[in-house]
Order: sequence, then structure tokens, then C-alpha cells
Amino acid sequence: MDIIKSVTEMQQRAVSARTAGQTISFVPTMGFLHQGHLSLLEEGRRRGDLLVLSIFVNPTQFGPGEDLDVYPRDLEQDSQLAQQADVDIIFAPDAKDIYPPGYATYVNVEGISEPLCGSSRPGHFRGICTVVSKLFNIIQPQVAIFGNKDFQQLAVIKRMTLDMNLPVEILGLPIFREADGLAMSSRNVYLTQDQRKQALVLSQSLATAKELVGAGELDCAAIIAQLKKNIAQQPDARIDYVQICHQLTLEDQIRVDADSVLLLAVFIGKTRLIDNSHLVTFCEITNND
Ligand code: PAJ
Repeated sequence: MDIIKSVTEMQQRAVSARTAGQTISFVPTMGFLHQGHLSLLEEGRRRGDLLVLSIFVNPTQFGPGEDLDVYPRDLEQDSQLAQQADVDIIFAPDAKDIYPPGYATYVNVEGISEPLCGSSRPGHFRGICTVVSKLFNIIQPQVAIFGNKDFQQLAVIKRMTLDMNLPVEILGLPIFREADGLAMSSRNVYLTQDQRKQALVLSQSLATAKELVGAGELDCAAIIAQLKKNIAQQPDARIDYVQICHQLTLEDQIRVDADSVLLLAVFIGKTRLIDNSHLVTFCEITNND
């Protein structure tokens, strides 16, 4: 496994691999790898001759006052995990090489990047789309693998890829969870023991919503009100958003249907956690028919 820091060297390796007829699969991350990331790498290994993992804490997707400076980093441990996952190349550039002096170009997706995280974190998706499109140009993958954990991020990247005719297949994989339901996240290390317990309110809210829907409650406002009440019972919880949206447009829905996704962003103390789930599974729809 090689660790490449230089943009030029990475691009040259990608060109050689492509010329040799190899398929490049790519998993973009900000590092501090957990099993959610590893599940993406596993799929990446299956899908590519050359598996590239990027580790880059991208400054442009963090807002002022957010956790850029304290975001957890451990390249040594990440390298070990990547080696075990049979990664061929870790691309770990420096911010000054991705955004050199004079840097002035940004990629902005309109519409679906505006609600939800786009509204509470202005500029967040602009930063993500900019870095992901740059990484696509540097690494030149045929397939890139993302997690459904960041549901809106995946939707925005799919939109960008389609709109910009980027020759990359975008794959989205299921959310990897801890045994008790908490969605894995590099940010979970910020939680104290007590907050870690309170953080279960996110996955529990998804379960509660599905139960309500199963019991025939299809009114989005009623479901959201019930969830907000439950979340507010946690002493350190502060709701950013609880919304039920159409899976493709991310517009708010009035009644639950087969396209409904529940999306949550909740601060537990200072840590902002997100989670999401479809509300109706295919089986439930056929059962209700
Ligand atoms: P990061 O938060 O490191 O996540 C990298 C990838 O891992 C994303 O596609 C994310 O959805 C996925 N992921 C995170 N937690 C997961 C989980 N519990 N189960 C499954 N997949 C999970 O997302 C980013 O980095 C950045 O925004 C990035 C796309 C790299 C651009 O900077």
C-alpha cells in the first residue's frame, strides 16, 4: 500500500492505471476510520483493480466556529486499517496543495443542497462538491462509494455527477451502526459516556417513527411533533432539524409514502449528530396493499 501526498503523483498513478486498463474504485473520507468507512472499502475492493482511499479533512466544508481544528486525526491507525482492508493507495494531501494561494473555483449544487444541513451549515455542500469534484479529477475513478449515513451529501453528489457529466458511478451503501443502534461516526469520540447514552435518541427516533407509521400514522407533522417531544427529554439534546422529506427532491412531505425519508440532526452537547431512515419498506407497502 502506498501513501501519496502529492496531487501530481496521485494523478500520474491514476493515468498509468487507466492506461493499463485498470478500474479505479474510490472511497473519499476525512479519516479517523471506523467500520462504516471499512464497509465502503470492502465494496471498493470488490469493484476496482486499484482501490484508492482519500483522507483529507476538507477545510472548505467546515463553517466558522465548527470543529475543523479539533476534528479527530490518526493517520497511523488509519493506515493500518486501510492495509487490512487491502487498500492500494491512500491519498492524503495537504490543504495547501488542494487549495493553493489564489484558489478561486467552487462547485455549487442548487436546490437539494439548500434545505436540512445546507440551511444549518451554509457553504457546507459547496465545500463538499468542490473537494469531491477535485478528488474525482485527481483520482479518476470509474466508481466512487459513499454512505447513506450522509443522505443529503449522497443526493447532492449524485446530482453534481449527473449535472456535470462526470464519468463516475456513484454507489451509496447502508448505514453501519454500533450494536445499540448509534450510527458510526468519527465525531462519536467527542461524546462523554453520559452523552453517548443520550445519543441513542437519534436511532430510537427512527425506530419510533417507523412504529408510528406501522400503526397507521401517516401525518408527517404528527410524527415529527412526537419525535421532537422525545428528543427534548434528553438533557443535553438540542434539535437542529427533524424532517420527513422526499428521498429524491428532499422537499418536506405532508403525508408519509414510499419515498419518505426521516432526517435528523441533533446536537448532543456540542456534538452535532445526524441520522436518517426510509419510513416505509417495500414489504410494508405490499402488506398494506
Ligand atoms: P466522512 O465523514 O469521513 O465520511 C466518509 C464516507 O463514509 C461518507 O460517504 C459517509 O457517508 C460514510 N460514512 C460515515 N459514517 C458511516 C456509517 N456509519 N455507515 C456507512 N457509511 C458511513 O463524508 C465525508 O467524510 C466528507 O464529507 C467527504 C465526502 C470525504 C468530503 O470531504
